Amino acid sequence: MKVAEIKLEDLKPTEFIEEQVKSISSSVGKELAINALSGGVDSSAVTLIGHKALGNKLKTYFIENGLMRQAEAQRIASLFKDLGVPVEVLDARKEFFGALKGLTDPEEKREAITQTFYKTVFGRLVRESKAKYLLQGTNFTDVEETVAGVKRQHNILEQLGIDTQKEFGYKVIEPIIQLRKSGVRAVAKTLGLPEELYNRPPFPGPALAARVIGEVTPDRVELVRLATNVVEEELSNTKAFQYLAILHEDKVTGVRNGKRDFGFQIEVRCWDSKDALIASPTRLSFDVLEKLASRITTEVPGVVSVTYNIANKPPSTIEAI
Ligand code: XMP
Repeated sequence: MKVAEIKLEDLKPTEFIEEQVKSISSSVGKELAINALSGGVDSSAVTLIGHKALGNKLKTYFIENGLMRQAEAQRIASLFKDLGVPVEVLDARKEFFGALKGLTDPEEKREAITQTFYKTVFGRLVRESKAKYLLQGTNFTDVEETVAGVKRQHNILEQLGIDTQKEFGYKVIEPIIQLRKSGVRAVAKTLGLPEELYNRPPFPGPALAARVIGEVTPDRVELVRLATNVVEEELSNTKAFQYLAILHEDKVTGVRNGKRDFGFQIEVRCWDSKDALIASPTRLSFDVLEKLASRITTEVPGVVSVTYNIANKPPSTIEAI
């Protein structure tokens, strides 16, 4: 099916929400649906639209895959509890790290995450709950990038010819598939989400695994998680589109306390962009860069080198894998 974009200037958020609520209720009927909330603006908007449409016929899960930011599960679950939406946190760390073990190729890592998410975790949830539908926050850019062959965004199924009913045992409903990020933010704001959610920088579906070059192990993700904390704290007051930390596969020689230290390299990226299709590095001041380097080499164990990406997208991409 070809997806038609709704441009920001043509979007009427209230009407859009009403239409989606009607369409979800009529598709799901008396059946049950489930959805995964990651705390990003896309899945947050879909969770609220879904609950408007289905009430307690929709069960929302936060999948703790071990790849999320610090204390994210508890934070998001309590934020949604305050909005009247119960969220169950499901610990799936073993399954995800098991599937990622030994993989270094970016597309193989993405495929492992997709399979673990849709087949292992959701397959089981659907069988146990008897849900017939999965609601998810695929957006227009995800479709466009996957169809163009830039990257396989982990949530793209139908556009790759995947029949979810046949492969995983449930149907997928994608209420925001016609919107780009700016449209989703407008809808999220109208839905009454707090600003810290509707204005959150984008975060990729494969989460911190998209920021680990080479094998994704719990220890390596922890390094990126700590570096991400620093980058988010230091850059949240910029107007940048997105900012992130990447762990490189190669180690480099450094020196600590007068001794050789063969340590890790972290790359910082900070992007100016409208829609993630093209992007350029934000012209951060050298003072800001120095502070980032100083904090990352002090607060993230074993890091001896911090670099700042100065290449545009294209040919770079926003994430590292
Ligand atoms: P890239 O890295 O392709 O990212 O320039 C474009 C935007 O999409 C976000 N994003 C993803 N990126 N895989 C990705 O590589 C995903 O599954 C995914 N989901 C979202 C990314 O953070 C950036 O904003």
